[in-house]
Amino acid sequence: MSVETGIENISTILVIGAGTMGRQIAMTAALAGYATTIQDISADGLAAARAELEGWAASRVAKGKLEKAAATAALDALAYSTDLDEAAANADFVIEAATERLEIKTAIFEKLGVLAPAHAILATNSSTLGSSKVAAATGRPAQVCNMHFFNPALVMKCVEVVRHGETSDATVATTMELARRLGKEPVLINREIPGFIANRLMGAIQREALFLADEGIASIEDIDTTARTALGHPMGPFALMDMVGLDVIDFIAQATHAETGAAEDAPNERIAALVAEGKLGRKSGAGFYHYA
Ligand code: CAA
Repeated sequence: MSVETGIENISTILVIGAGTMGRQIAMTAALAGYATTIQDISADGLAAARAELEGWAASRVAKGKLEKAAATAALDALAYSTDLDEAAANADFVIEAATERLEIKTAIFEKLGVLAPAHAILATNSSTLGSSKVAAATGRPAQVCNMHFFNPALVMKCVEVVRHGETSDATVATTMELARRLGKEPVLINREIPGFIANRLMGAIQREALFLADEGIASIEDIDTTARTALGHPMGPFALMDMVGLDVIDFIAQATHAETGAAEDAPNERIAALVAEGKLGRKSGAGFYHYA
């Protein structure tokens, strides 16, 4: 059974997962005035998220980019919880940004189907798993879709809303409108395809950049410089891969390749080797580049 949920029914948001994406998505919602809970099984992960968001808010205020009252209101609108049962019971809209492992996501969505109010929309931030893979587990597939944010989520304007075969028009309309109210510019993807729009475009650039570097045609520094100075990209493909995380890039390639089987989607050996060495990009201090 499906419930038609309009934007007027949405006042509380639950974000599952306090990682890089989840914490910034939650702050985005809190800044837009939504009572927002971040749920994670790790109390340490929640504490790290809280510390980062409080630090971010303080630096925005210090820079004069955010009113102190708005920062305080947003921080006050955020709740942190390790208890999914309790957090889901009050949620009008859920954005799952937990691990990309299907069996864990399926278990979460199965729980949400039972615990969340009947009108709640259940979205996943996944960039690799179409929501059709978890929709049936919820018992309310029409209220399930992807709502995919970009890193850093407090900055990037795009949100990809992806419908699966059974997503209702009301769910799409409400999710698109919620993204707008979060200050984002949503785009609609009418049918699931690995990589959606952005990761397909990014993948094409990364493949070509890796080819040029692997062939010794140019250094990674010069390839990145060209992307910035010739094409106006804010950062070059290697710097971007380091920012996203080479483990994430490798995982996306593995997941996409498993689905398409296409040679051009195969994971890159140089990236796999860096990941095996623990060089995951900025977060580990080294990737294609070294970081202080
Ligand atoms: N968290 C929060 N805010 C951040 C941030 C972060 N990690 N990094 C930068 N910012 C903010 C800064 O505070 C600054 O804000 P103000 O201008 O309002 O003061 C603003 O972003 C610009 O930052 P900087 O001046 O330090 O540096 P910049 O101009 O080079 O911008 C950038 C940094 C926004 C990351 C920019 O380089 C950029 O847009 N890069 C491309 C990012 C991108 O392509 N993201 C998509 C990744 S793919 C993905 O996410 C999908 C997936 O499935 C993997």
